[in-house]
Amino acid sequence: MMMRLMDRKESPMAAKTDPQLSALRRVVLVANQKGGVGKTSITTALASLIADDTHRVLVVDADPQGNATGSDLGVVGDRGRSLMMALQYAEPLQVQQDVRPGLDLVCGGPFLAQVGALTATAAQTGLDLVANLRKTLADVCAEGGYTLVLIDSGPGDAPLLDALLRTARYLIVPTKDDDASLEGVELLARRYLMAKERDGAMLQLLGVVLFDANPRATARNGQVLEDLDSMLEGSGATCFKTMIRSDRAAALDLRAAHLTPVELVEATASASKARLARLSRAGRHRAEPDEVEQRLWSRDPVPLASDYQALARELLGRVAANERAASA
Ligand SMILES: Nc1ncnc2c1ncn2[C@@H]1O[C@H](COP(=O)(O)OP(=O)(O)OP(=O)(O)O)[C@@H](O)[C@H]1O
Ligand SMILES: [Mg+2]
Repeated sequence: MMMRLMDRKESPMAAKTDPQLSALRRVVLVANQKGGVGKTSITTALASLIADDTHRVLVVDADPQGNATGSDLGVVGDRGRSLMMALQYAEPLQVQQDVRPGLDLVCGGPFLAQVGALTATAAQTGLDLVANLRKTLADVCAEGGYTLVLIDSGPGDAPLLDALLRTARYLIVPTKDDDASLEGVELLARRYLMAKERDGAMLQLLGVVLFDANPRATARNGQVLEDLDSMLEGSGATCFKTMIRSDRAAALDLRAAHLTPVELVEATASASKARLARLSRAGRHRAEPDEVEQRLWSRDPVPLASDYQALARELLGRVAANERAASA
């Protein structure tokens, strides 16, 4: 059973804070300037696992690559136009409802690549990205009553990342265990502390997640987690206990077929049933190549899906603990 967060209506925080902060209090940013460390995979997997008929979840795809929108969720979308208009003119965000049960989406895409150019002239134009993002996101949060909002951010040191760091309530940092990815964590941890000190940002680092990890490399993983925890000292956060294991076959299927981890588990189960049925109909033990299910590479995506399930539980647990601490 997934641990559940209190409903917004029951929150002891809501009465204490201003309406905009209250609306943004379940907004989780997934970020690391380093590319390819699992930001998008983690965002969409967690969102799909937490969302259901009674717990609505919003994914905001704030990446010009639009991988969460197109590759992972298989949505055509508006190429990031609405999010761009919200950032630039505070126009209301367009939300694609129920791209999965209980899961809504603000689409990402190439329109968001214009943010950099806009910020270069912000002093002349009076553009305030942060104010626009806070306002428009708070409006959809208040309207949608989301249990959780997950923002996927792109790689690189974009001005958009700065605005996201100043809007979200929580931060999750995925990393791989190579040196370049770990340096990315250190950079972001510094940036996080700056955002907090400089603007008193409400952002709280929830933890670092090790992604694409080898579950059998226990000594190596232990060392990496220890190094990360000492890197995070002073931030009040630690690594998540759950690691997302390496599974390239499943990763290929998730993207190519636009499946969530649970959908992939179901798809491989029905694909292998169909394969067995064909084999037994043919009355032999070997299938001809064209009879073998070619569309899915993974045979057993259950361990990967279980990792995401455990991470979702940990995430909700940490958010709940923060809310308890804040209301105490
Ligand atoms: N469990 C896994 N094991 C191995 N590779 C994976 C796994 N899950 C996803 N991948 C692959 O790792 C790559 C990076 O993942 P992902 O796109 O989620 O990272 P990202 O941080 O969002 O990247 P970017 O910085 O480009 O936005 C992708 O090719 C993805 O298919
Ligand atoms: Mg990504």
